[in-house]
Amino acid sequence: MKIAFYSAKSYDKESFDHFAQDFGHEITYFEAKLDKHSTSLAADHEVVCAFVNDILDKSVLKKLKDTGVKLIALRCAGYNQVDLEAAKDLEIPLVRVPVYSPEAVAEHGFALILTLSRKTHKAYNRVRESNFSLEGLTGFNLHGKTIGVIGTGAIGQAFCNIALGFGTQVLAYDLYENEELKSKGIRYADLNELFAQSDIISLHCPLTPETKHLINAKTIKQMKDGVVLINTSRGALIETKSVIKALKSKKIGYLGIDVYEQEEDLFFKNLSEEIIPDDQISRLMTFPNVLITGHQAFLTREALAQIAQTTLRNISEFEAGDPLTNAIA
Ligand code: NAI
Repeated sequence: MKIAFYSAKSYDKESFDHFAQDFGHEITYFEAKLDKHSTSLAADHEVVCAFVNDILDKSVLKKLKDTGVKLIALRCAGYNQVDLEAAKDLEIPLVRVPVYSPEAVAEHGFALILTLSRKTHKAYNRVRESNFSLEGLTGFNLHGKTIGVIGTGAIGQAFCNIALGFGTQVLAYDLYENEELKSKGIRYADLNELFAQSDIISLHCPLTPETKHLINAKTIKQMKDGVVLINTSRGALIETKSVIKALKSKKIGYLGIDVYEQEEDLFFKNLSEEIIPDDQISRLMTFPNVLITGHQAFLTREALAQIAQTTLRNISEFEAGDPLTNAIA
């Protein structure tokens, strides 16, 4: 099938080109993000392949439908960027990649924690300038600490398994309890207990109307002083203004985020020569105890290969008229 591939980066091309021939699809890569201005690029293509910050609202979906697009293939797990009702009304099927190396994201969560807990980002810069002083580099052990994990699906489960290896106590919260994790010693608790008991809190639930701003002024108040907050899931799980306030008062001791509520206009672009108009991320970047990465938790060779293969297989199923294994209901 002919695929219009939006928001294409060099690493996407590399992994998709590697597998495309096996599936017999033809891909046109567009650097442009999918939004109301770029829908015309999809003319003559039957499939649109989109990523996390592409816009798939009602007007975009309508334009794609009018252009002749028959399938939207998301090359990501989350689908909060899609107006599902509009897609249903327009009868455009949607497929996604529900699981791709959950370990990639879980390991990145620990990269954020370890960088913050051992200040390796500071040590790296110091040593490069022949500054071998240890002043100000005192960290803390993970061993013996309590980690609260919100969402124990594929990524949360992988995260819990790593946490156990560090000798931490894991408190978990999810709508459904995972028996395998429980058999390994992970204890489920309600959110109130998790917030009150955890030294480190890591978010792995999807963004839904229920989870939007799960971390807000009220829930932060319930947390331990100096808590470490990690978000590799979706930016809007956190109410940024409350987190900034809590960083200023030292209620939050460390913040590690790979996602940000207003990331659509920032992430995946080189803005090093631009003035950043977003005052909240600019403020966050000034804190010495805040580590921000630009939605790279998924970015491993293993995950990219799985994303490409599953996306191309999803499209082949559609082409063959087979049931869509990874359809978004
Ligand atoms: P999953 O669907 O396997 O697991 C999500 C878990 O959250 C499920 O166990 C579900 O029951 C639970 N959940 C749903 N609503 C909840 C609520 N209100 N409170 C607590 N738990 C709730 O998803 P997976 O693969 O583990 O991904 C989790 C999230 O990670 C995705 O939604 C996505 O937003 C994010 N993600 C981030 C990436 C990155 O590069 N930073 C890459 C891939 C995913």
